[in-house]
Amino acid sequence: MDFKIAVLAGDGIGPEISKQGVDVMSAVCAKFGHKVTFKDAICGAAAIDAVGDPFPEDTFQTCMDADAVLFSAVGDPKFDNDPTAKVRPEQGLLAMRKKLGLFANIRPVETFDCLIHKSPLREDLVKGADFICIRELTGGMYFGEKYQDNDKAYDTNYYTRPEIERILKVGFEYARRRSHHLTVVDKANVLASSRLWRKVAQEMESSYPDVRTDYMYVDNAAMRMIQEPTFFDVMVTENTFGDILTDEGSCITGSMGLLPSASTGEHTPVFEPIHGSWPQAKGLNIANPLAQILSVAMLFEYFDCKEEGALVRKAVKSSLDANVRTPEIQVEGGAKYGTKEVGAWIVDYIKKA
Ligand code: IPM
Ligand code: MG
Repeated sequence: MDFKIAVLAGDGIGPEISKQGVDVMSAVCAKFGHKVTFKDAICGAAAIDAVGDPFPEDTFQTCMDADAVLFSAVGDPKFDNDPTAKVRPEQGLLAMRKKLGLFANIRPVETFDCLIHKSPLREDLVKGADFICIRELTGGMYFGEKYQDNDKAYDTNYYTRPEIERILKVGFEYARRRSHHLTVVDKANVLASSRLWRKVAQEMESSYPDVRTDYMYVDNAAMRMIQEPTFFDVMVTENTFGDILTDEGSCITGSMGLLPSASTGEHTPVFEPIHGSWPQAKGLNIANPLAQILSVAMLFEYFDCKEEGALVRKAVKSSLDANVRTPEIQVEGGAKYGTKEVGAWIVDYIKKA
């Protein structure tokens, strides 16, 4: 294949982990005879500082011209503590999602046996947990009509049938490729938008007779995720619920630094770690590059390059087994490796494989 990749490194630890993702992708492409070219583009706080816009038109064009976007993270504390800021780095992320039509956000929650002891949950509960949360990403309260004055404010959880159908279709199809179990998460006992979701899902069920579909209120799902995370296989939900549940999912695995994600839809797909920009760690060479590197695995898998994806996953697993780990997941007394060293070890493993 001939891959054209837009690289949006963003803020904080973004550039450091981005470099590891790019190096891993280059190494895999060299090994399998793919051509790959990377084009950097600015976004987030870096882009606000440079041009006053967190997702500038040039960056959008670079994304549109690419086969895939390798995204890292955006965010900067100087905006978090300023409620009067007119423009924020996160708006760049939302603009990217909307303009690229990235309605489906795929967030796997996968545990690594060697890290289970890091989970806040008991080992016997979390062992074997392996599910995918499919979050609707371009609708709902994030993008519905908003209003705010001094005395009142609202956000509208607006969804149309086609928006619901297309994301549920992604859910049913993922379930088909996995254990044929789909959980539709909503709040149909209270919200009209959820009742439409549930109605549409029930109508679609007959087209997927091989998928066992169940329905769960979001409060119950949040509870079930910590009581019995192994219950889930594929869950599908709306934007806001998905935002919250995927943070919960990421921490039950033991390290947020390990989970990648894919956002797909109408235009160029985006692959990114689910953790944020961790500004406090910027430049310290301590951020875990594995979520970014696993995003590269998801990128290959998206393009049906299964062996390439499998090699990246094998290299990551081997680095963990060899205790080549960044400080937050290193075993007691184990050697400390930095972002660069973990990335370099994985590149080396790929070259030798
Ligand atoms: C996420 C993040 C974003 C979201 C923020 C940074 C706007 O929390 O990707 O989950 O709320 O979607
Ligand atoms: Mg979030």
